[in-house]
Amino acid sequence: MKKIIFLAAMSILGITACKTVVKETPDNSEKEVMKKADSVLALMTLDEKIGQLNQFSGDGELTGPVALRPDLLQSIRDGKVGSMLNINGADYTRKIQKIAIEESRLKIPLIFGYDVIHGYKTIFPIPLGEAASWDIEVAERSARIGATEAAAAGQHWTFAPMVDIARDPRWGRIMEGSGEDPYLGSRLAEARVKGFQGKNLADITTILACAKHYAGYGNAQAGRDYYTTDMSDNTLREIYLPPFKAAAKAGVETFMSAFNDLNGVPATGNKYLIHDILKTEWAFKGMVVSDWGSISEMIPHGIVANKYEAGDLAFNAGVDMDMEGNVYLTEMKNLLKDGNITEAQIDESVRRVLRLKFLLGLFEDPYRYSNTERESQTLLKPEFLAEARDAARKSFVLLKNENQVLPLNISVKSVALIGPAADAADDMIGNWSGRGEGKHVITLKKELETRLGAGKVLYAKGANFNDSDKSGFAAAMAAARRADIIIAACGEAGMMSGESMSRADISIPGVQEELILEMAKLGKPMVLVLFNGRPLILTKVNTFVPAILEAWIPGTMTGPALCDVLFGEYNPSGKLPVTFPYSVGQIPIYYNHKNSGRPGSQEQKFTSRYLDVPNDPLFPFGYGLSYTQFAYNNLILSESIVSDIHPLEVRVDIKNTGLVAGTETVQLYIRDLVGSVTRPVKELKGFTKVMLKAGEVQTVSFKVAKEDLSFYNREGVWGTEPGKFKVFVGTNSQNTIEAGFELK
Ligand code: NOJ
Repeated sequence: MKKIIFLAAMSILGITACKTVVKETPDNSEKEVMKKADSVLALMTLDEKIGQLNQFSGDGELTGPVALRPDLLQSIRDGKVGSMLNINGADYTRKIQKIAIEESRLKIPLIFGYDVIHGYKTIFPIPLGEAASWDIEVAERSARIGATEAAAAGQHWTFAPMVDIARDPRWGRIMEGSGEDPYLGSRLAEARVKGFQGKNLADITTILACAKHYAGYGNAQAGRDYYTTDMSDNTLREIYLPPFKAAAKAGVETFMSAFNDLNGVPATGNKYLIHDILKTEWAFKGMVVSDWGSISEMIPHGIVANKYEAGDLAFNAGVDMDMEGNVYLTEMKNLLKDGNITEAQIDESVRRVLRLKFLLGLFEDPYRYSNTERESQTLLKPEFLAEARDAARKSFVLLKNENQVLPLNISVKSVALIGPAADAADDMIGNWSGRGEGKHVITLKKELETRLGAGKVLYAKGANFNDSDKSGFAAAMAAARRADIIIAACGEAGMMSGESMSRADISIPGVQEELILEMAKLGKPMVLVLFNGRPLILTKVNTFVPAILEAWIPGTMTGPALCDVLFGEYNPSGKLPVTFPYSVGQIPIYYNHKNSGRPGSQEQKFTSRYLDVPNDPLFPFGYGLSYTQFAYNNLILSESIVSDIHPLEVRVDIKNTGLVAGTETVQLYIRDLVGSVTRPVKELKGFTKVMLKAGEVQTVSFKVAKEDLSFYNREGVWGTEPGKFKVFVGTNSQNTIEAGFELK
């Protein structure tokens, strides 16, 4: 009898959790979705509600240390799991979903989540590399393709975009984000959210996005992963939170709380961050998941004594779902019994989870994402590979090109291709590479041989990525001596950046630098193609090597994208999204720093300086060369006295003064000269990309709105303050022309 009543309730709601597709595109209006979520909630026992707030990892791929946990399949049957991560493939997700649908009392579908960070099967450049394209369309498209592939393979949810600002290249996770700038980071965060979630989550090519790691994680002291963060509210609000806020505004449906403690309170138990700012101030309607085990990790943080207290702190802070922690499952009932939390709070979190399941259409058809035929037709589609190639070539940054070594002439007689990255397929997809496989990668060696003919490519590995073995030097030097041109493909192995991959010494690892410098001594035309997940210290190689191309970790289409640029079929247009230090001792170093009371230079005593190195970085934020040159002229502001109501218009003429067509990323910065709290020397407030033929001039126009001039003032409120401002426009954060205006 009970069963009949339940089934009747489900069918009134239009919920038939079975194989048949009832509706392809469910009604996703907020009102309708919440109505449905409430009707399901009304059917649930307390245990079932708590179950929805739990997420466990599958046994295959583990992305963190495994805690003690119950029998997974039995837990699904018992209604104790709301979501799973790291279960892959249409077939496998269907199998696990079937247990929830056919063997649990309420048949509530599971959500499957996975780290789709820079592609699922077709691997795009790492996010830091993609950020170097400064191309929001590229970022949106790559997220769209990652979502399309993942969705065809049974995934409903990606733990991306990672929107942590990072000013410390020692931190290995700098590779997962957009670099150091809140403005660029915000634009890319929005683009990636749009790409993953599309216009309507009922569309089966879309998946839920997740803004992570909320918040401050990228500010880990000394660049050591998971480590303490401590910062002022101003820095938090102005530097670290904007990309999260932008993601929330763009409609991201989930947030992940971070591992780090922030000003003494772990982010996962931080009520100020989650309840006060995210859920109240920003009115975020989606769901907050913890990071892997981050609830119980508050015990070693030393803020709680046991799992019970950890659950209390996290849940009251606003974390809805416990990832791989087994804390909510074991502690929540007691917390409720003791009056530390209320059933209304539990209902609120469960509602947030159910809402997502309805948005995804899983109640209509829990298997709609798990279709093997769609999976095999979707992964690695030629058009996805073409997009990955385009994204990669747009991500490359030309750091140096003395004597126009680049582009290379396709009729070159012989090229020495030296270095551990030249043919390292697995390393080209890097960390967090989803289900990407090295076997699908076209390496630089392979593509060079295709383009030039194998006989013209003298390949020698020369050295490994990161050891002291020099036994390959002799063969490498012999090849370099014989060839007309040397290409050194060096840098970090693919897994030297990413989670828990911090480095204290961020030079080119192992004996590679020695090998590069040996080859440079030959005085031949030479290009260093660098592969890395973070800025490296390039000060020495920059002195001796005539051309350097920063390739990051380019993904599946590494070789074709690189050859497009090396042979001039694509004119490089990438710009650094992060500062490259001159010396590791300058870290943290970033362009939007404060001025100090004693700004100065290395030569001036009693100024803010180093005795042994300059204050300036080796390559500044926004830097990147092209095979042509651009001149900036006629910077004109629409007014010199501005009221905060009308946007200011900034116009500038850009001329391609070189011999070939090229794309320039025009960057606009402002400086507020006097504020109630000290202001950065420059802040990026706009950028645009222009394609110019040789000799062509274009006028570029920016609008500077009131919010671009706002900051978090001394009273702890966002707003503008009257006074003088400078406007800078240029090719990077250092090389700019300027004008000024006054805000009344
Ligand atoms: C831990 C990482 O910090 C997070 O970014 C990731 O999404 C989860 N593991 C799941 O793999």
